[in-house]
Amino acid sequence: MEVGVVGLGAIGRQLCRALDEGIAGLHLAGATARDREKAERFLKSLGSPAPFLSLDALVRASDLVIEASTQAHLRDEIAPRTLEAGKDLVVLSCGGLIGRQDWIDLAASRGCRIYVPSAAIAGLDGVKGARIGAIESVTMETRKPPRGLAGAPWIESQRIDLDAITRETLIFEGTATEACRAFPANVNVVAALSLAGIGPERTRIRIFASPEQPLNRHRITVQGEFGRLTVEIENVPSENPRTGKLSYLSTIAFLKDLFATLRVGT
Ligand SMILES: NC(=O)c1ccc[n+]([C@@H]2O[C@H](COP(=O)([O-])OP(=O)(O)OC[C@H]3O[C@@H](n4cnc5c(N)ncnc54)[C@H](O)[C@@H]3O)[C@@H](O)[C@H]2O)c1
Repeated sequence: MEVGVVGLGAIGRQLCRALDEGIAGLHLAGATARDREKAERFLKSLGSPAPFLSLDALVRASDLVIEASTQAHLRDEIAPRTLEAGKDLVVLSCGGLIGRQDWIDLAASRGCRIYVPSAAIAGLDGVKGARIGAIESVTMETRKPPRGLAGAPWIESQRIDLDAITRETLIFEGTATEACRAFPANVNVVAALSLAGIGPERTRIRIFASPEQPLNRHRITVQGEFGRLTVEIENVPSENPRTGKLSYLSTIAFLKDLFATLRVGT
């Protein structure tokens, strides 16, 4: 299977390296990014140098396109072009999938699939199992250092002075849908959780600015017929302070699973 990578940041570069080192059944067809010169330098550094391609050429050359770019790029170019061409799509900026039933319909009509790796969160296997039965509630608490929330529309509109926060403070509470509007760059995790579970209207999140600790922490609680599930994760940042290492490690594991003979976990 030919794989194209869109975006060569913290996630995209690690995926290219892993594909270059070898993942059964997969071959790196090429990549695209905003800064061509920098991207070409990186792609030439691989053991088997891969070409820099325009998005359209990359989609043509690929069976599977991995989006590791931005929600805006996903919305405006990557999803429409990839799905229209009938190619499978892996989405990292999955906050952009909320409310996009049209993309799911388009993929179904073209006979391709949209994949959302667990990325920065864990426990989606349990949530998927739970949702086969009855679920009463899915709630999430996210704690981030205040500067990790800078620039979000909610911070701006509520005029929250992040520098003035000296101890843990609840700054947002709402549904996954509302959180996507309020914090478009911080909500991929709750988007994935809501898509795996009971949807963005019934999934609730509380976001805390927490100056006491440097890591992004998430706690998920699911209550249902199966019992109660709690997952807690502390993410060590990658070279992009907003992206945890687990985001690309999990995506590499997802790619390894595509052609694995023994596949463990839901
Ligand atoms: N699902 C999750 O749990 C999860 C976890 C971490 C990050 N993410 C998301 O994954 C995405 C990638 O994360 P990252 O840390 O690698 O980001 P990054 O900022 O390090 O890299 C983004 C890359 O996309 C490229 N890019 C952006 N807009 C482009 C455009 N219009 N045309 C061409 N290239 C473009 C940039 O050049 C860059 O190479 C982000 O949207 C991030 O929010 C999701």
